[in-house]
Amino acid sequence: MDLPLTRRGFLKTTFAFSAAAMLAGCETIVRPLVEAPINVMALGDWGWVGDLTAQHQVASAMQSYVRTHALSPNALLMLGDNFYGELPGGVSDPRWQSQFETIYPSESYNCPVYAVPGNHDYQNDPQSKYEAELAYSALGTSRWTMPSRYYKVLLPAKAPLITCIMLDSNMGDEPAQPHPRGNYYAQTDAERREQLAWLTQTLAEPLETPFLAVIAHHPLYTNGAHGDNQTLIRDWDPLLRKAGVHLYLAGHDHDMQHLEFAGHPTSFVLSGGGGAALNRLKSPSDGPFAAEVHGFTHLQISEDLVTVTHLDENGNTIHSFSKTPSGVVTLLS
Ligand SMILES: [Fe+2]
Repeated sequence: MDLPLTRRGFLKTTFAFSAAAMLAGCETIVRPLVEAPINVMALGDWGWVGDLTAQHQVASAMQSYVRTHALSPNALLMLGDNFYGELPGGVSDPRWQSQFETIYPSESYNCPVYAVPGNHDYQNDPQSKYEAELAYSALGTSRWTMPSRYYKVLLPAKAPLITCIMLDSNMGDEPAQPHPRGNYYAQTDAERREQLAWLTQTLAEPLETPFLAVIAHHPLYTNGAHGDNQTLIRDWDPLLRKAGVHLYLAGHDHDMQHLEFAGHPTSFVLSGGGGAALNRLKSPSDGPFAAEVHGFTHLQISEDLVTVTHLDENGNTIHSFSKTPSGVVTLLS
């Protein structure tokens, strides 16, 4: 098995990878004439507890951005750590209203909200917050969508442009320490292997969209506080490479990043600035981009281009790049 590239092999301007060659064996999909691009908003590590100033500021900036650009997002992606702290009422806890439904309102996001679990969601505080998140989705009364531990979504439903594979990245080796306010837990090893088999099978299926994204809470690679995740690198990196996955979207570190590795088909995007207290970056000069700021991410997707834009808590663009279905990455800002 090829192990990951040296960390710092990114190029500064344009990347031409071999995703097209990797996907050359796939069936040709007959698509309708080009329609308007779709828009997806994403943020991670947003369900903070205590001082919610940052969560409100990021949410306000994202809402202003959506309004200003007259966007009607097709999806909102919640990248995990959806609830820090206690959620004593489970599906009836008032935090669902105060920190989700009203902060990210349906007037601006009249779309499904696809969520993955973070490590803080895997916390008994006082009972499993993850179970509550699955149950809240199952009620069918909210945009909140988390049908199972891992799932696949095509966006938009009609003539889809991007396949999103939503995963549970909570491996048994992290976190190692019990939390003083409740018990952390994670997937069992059997669950890890079950998901890995599903992911392997799913990525082997013919791609129905120009773009393919994998979305989970923990990054494989990061310049942030938590460091690279060796379990995910071992399990998932070979699959990302083989399938020519265009984007890997994560949170966990409380900052905003974009990492590229020479010869790797996948762009690693980290959007962990949704509201939790910021973490110190370990290697802020690596990238192409890393910033210790609050913020959110906009993905605009058309037939021939995905554009990823990081914005800060004031709605200012702090980084942007585009990528073609064949894997050519261009830094825009
Ligand atoms: Fe996390």
